[in-house]
Amino acid sequence: MISIENINKTYGKFHILKSVNLNIEKGQIVTVMGPNGSGKTTLLKCILGLVIPDNGDIKVDGKTIKNNFEYRHKIGYMPQTAFFPENIRVKDVIQIIKEIRGEKAAVDFELYDYYEIEKFTEKKVSSLSQGMKQKVSSALTFMFDSDILILDEPTAGLDPLSAEYMKIKIRKEKDKGKLIIITTHILNEVEELSDRIIFLLDGEVRVNRVNESGSTNGAEGILNKFTELFKSYEWE
Ligand SMILES: Nc1ncnc2c1ncn2[C@@H]1O[C@H](COP(=O)(O)OP(=O)(O)OP(=O)(O)O)[C@@H](O)[C@H]1O
Ligand SMILES: [Mg+2]
Repeated sequence: MISIENINKTYGKFHILKSVNLNIEKGQIVTVMGPNGSGKTTLLKCILGLVIPDNGDIKVDGKTIKNNFEYRHKIGYMPQTAFFPENIRVKDVIQIIKEIRGEKAAVDFELYDYYEIEKFTEKKVSSLSQGMKQKVSSALTFMFDSDILILDEPTAGLDPLSAEYMKIKIRKEKDKGKLIIITTHILNEVEELSDRIIFLLDGEVRVNRVNESGSTNGAEGILNKFTELFKSYEWE
């Protein structure tokens, strides 16, 4: 569904993504993990066409994303930090996104209802707490029933119940055959949610494997691998 073919990204003298090759199939939850600054968000933005790699290619459903904007209709994207215009009301943000995506395309109000967003649609964006902004952002991401969901730290800043509901929703969407790519620093989430784990270290894919947490020693296994990778990084 998504193939990433040997992409590199540099910012000035900094080599951010290093020869990244990945093949990601639909019907699964793929977790991208790695330390701060390892390139997770940059990689997601490359898939979205928000960051252009220096070379290589990215294909969605077999078609290159270069000069192709159509494919973005298939994607729901939840950025790491939601930036909405501060001076408008929540209901206006929702209306603007609906107009961009097409009013009729707004079909899934499950998160919207669960997070009771209706109760604060009259509030100005500037008056929302960080968690409330996350809720609006996630409700909008899921609203358009996209085939591909790209969620950059979706549970960060959410209270535990809201985070739990987000995970339930992510699993539900996977069961519909969608592809969900998430980044997270929470090891339990990696263990619970992922079908495939991709570990980025300093812009390189160091692990790309099926999640075997259920069959082996679970989160402990992931933690050991994590520690191992951190140590090897320090010693190189
Ligand atoms: N627009 C930019 N200009 C210059 N450098 C950038 C830009 N965007 C990202 N970087 C750099 O790329 C590297 C990777 O950043 P990125 O945001 O992808 O990390 P991340 O793995 O998502 O980190 P975190 O876990 O903190 O979210 C960092 O060194 C960052 O400073
Ligand atoms: Mg990030």
